[in-house]
Amino acid sequence: MSPLTNDVPGTTPHELPSLGVVLVAAGRGERLGAGAPKAFVELRGRALLEFGIGVVTSLPHLGHLVVVAPESHAAQALDIVEQVLPAASSWEVSVVPGGRERHESVRFGLNALPDSVETVLVHDAARPFASAALFERVITEVRRTGDAVVPALPVVDTLKRVDPEGIVHETVDRAPLVAVQTPQGFVRETLAAAHATAQLQHEGGLPTDDAEVVQRAGAKVRTVPGEQRAHKLTTPADLAILEHFLTANLLGLEAEA
Ligand code: CTP
Ligand code: MG
Repeated sequence: MSPLTNDVPGTTPHELPSLGVVLVAAGRGERLGAGAPKAFVELRGRALLEFGIGVVTSLPHLGHLVVVAPESHAAQALDIVEQVLPAASSWEVSVVPGGRERHESVRFGLNALPDSVETVLVHDAARPFASAALFERVITEVRRTGDAVVPALPVVDTLKRVDPEGIVHETVDRAPLVAVQTPQGFVRETLAAAHATAQLQHEGGLPTDDAEVVQRAGAKVRTVPGEQRAHKLTTPADLAILEHFLTANLLGLEAEA
């Protein structure tokens, strides 16, 4: 699959993208059970992938976006890119096929970034309404600190530790616990090196996010405030939540809450 590259007025050829975003959209969406990968599920006639590509390519950076799509949906992903990308964009976009597991899809995406990229964000296409402000918060903090950065929200429910039979053994102190989201940001070298040597045979099982991959490799991971609207589509119940944020977006309301 060939990259789509836009000619950007006002930029000169030596200005190469220093920001990379890997938008992972190659999962099967088994828990949703919609009969299509989640990134291609539509909300009011628009595939989730449209929203993700839209917000990334609206960021005022010289960037390269890699959309990681199922092989079977690569042509559809390219069609969406062509529809969404403004004619004069500061973003180059390419589409690559994903892997069986999320970490493989991320690795394939990283491999497709141009050498000039120094800061990388990895984002789930299944979180279509993460705001531009959240992307900027993560980018700024990575560039300020050189550490890995994840959006985090406090945990609000009371947490219990249960056994396989569902019997409660204790209440877990939630004060030091947070729920993390994407986009997650990294110095490109840190993430690429951690993925290249990923300790996948780990007692915790496969890593479910990129922060865990770099943490297993010894890097420091810090948090910035997350947002409710970066909610992930996982099961059918999440569709109503995303509808809410879509409505808020369409009305131009501030959907933070
Ligand atoms: N993902 C991916 N490649 C994979 C697995 C997941 O690109 N092999 C992406 C998904 O498309 C999604 C994000 O990673 O945007 C988060 O994963 P998850 O919510 O688990 O999505 P799915 O794997 O598609 O869903 P499920 O686990 O229910 O099958
Ligand atoms: Mg999954």
